[in-house]
Amino acid sequence: MIVVNNKQELKSEIMKYKLQGKKITIIPTMGDLHKGHFELFHKKPKHTISFVTIYVNPLQFDNKDDFIHYPRLIEMDLEKCKQNEIDLVYAPATNISDDIDFDENIDLPKFTRYLCGATRHNHFLGVYKIIKHLFSIIEPDFACFGKKDYQQLLLIKYIAKTYFPYLRIIEVDTVRENNIALSSRLRRLNNNSLERAKMIYETLLDIRRHLIKGDEFHEIKDKFINKVQSSKISIEYLEHRKSDTLENASKEITNSSLFIACSIDNIRLIDNIQL
Ligand code: PAJ
Repeated sequence: MIVVNNKQELKSEIMKYKLQGKKITIIPTMGDLHKGHFELFHKKPKHTISFVTIYVNPLQFDNKDDFIHYPRLIEMDLEKCKQNEIDLVYAPATNISDDIDFDENIDLPKFTRYLCGATRHNHFLGVYKIIKHLFSIIEPDFACFGKKDYQQLLLIKYIAKTYFPYLRIIEVDTVRENNIALSSRLRRLNNNSLERAKMIYETLLDIRRHLIKGDEFHEIKDKFINKVQSSKISIEYLEHRKSDTLENASKEITNSSLFIACSIDNIRLIDNIQL
């Protein structure tokens, strides 16, 4: 496994692979790797170079504390990449945000204003900038992203379609354990809170059953919010939206999804399911 820490080394490694006619699959992460990330690693098309990036991107954090406390466990992450037979890792040693060409007139698609975009100021702008930067310097053939961050995945697909039409985005199903969507943030929860966190996904499953039976979302939403909140889980949003535009789904359940964001012990967690 080759590890590079700066853009020059990165470019020269990429060039070597490209000259050999090899195709590249990129898997961008912020590190603190877990089974959710490994699932992305395993979804890369055969015979392509697996290329993981590890970078805690300051541009996408609206909360400075959250950025400072984000786990940085590079040695452990590199070991996990090795065990997962990753070919190349880019882990910038310095803040690369200064490298990114700041275009003042970035027009983000409308759906980035909803759900997480409504509360996390500039989050999707930060994701947009780092991903467009990585796609531009690496020019990968494939890129793997998780459906756990569904709204982010839609934004990535928008970036690919608009600027990198040859790039294929591979969408990977959410990995859960004990009914909890795996996330780097879970390590900050104690056992009691982890037990309560199961309720997040189980609530989505329950609502899905009701909607399929014919109930209307707006009639049952408050009941479920109250139920979840009574377990000391504070809800930021619980929404039923169209899966492509993220507009409200109204009565239509085909091609729609349920989305939830909430906090347990001040740790923010998200999950979603498709109907
Ligand atoms: P990070 O949270 O490290 O996630 C990296 C990738 O792993 C994302 O595509 C995310 O959707 C996927 N992922 C995380 N948990 C998952 C799970 N339980 N099941 C399936 N996939 C999962 O998302 C980011 O980093 C950053 O925003 C990034 C895209 C790297 C830009 O900085």
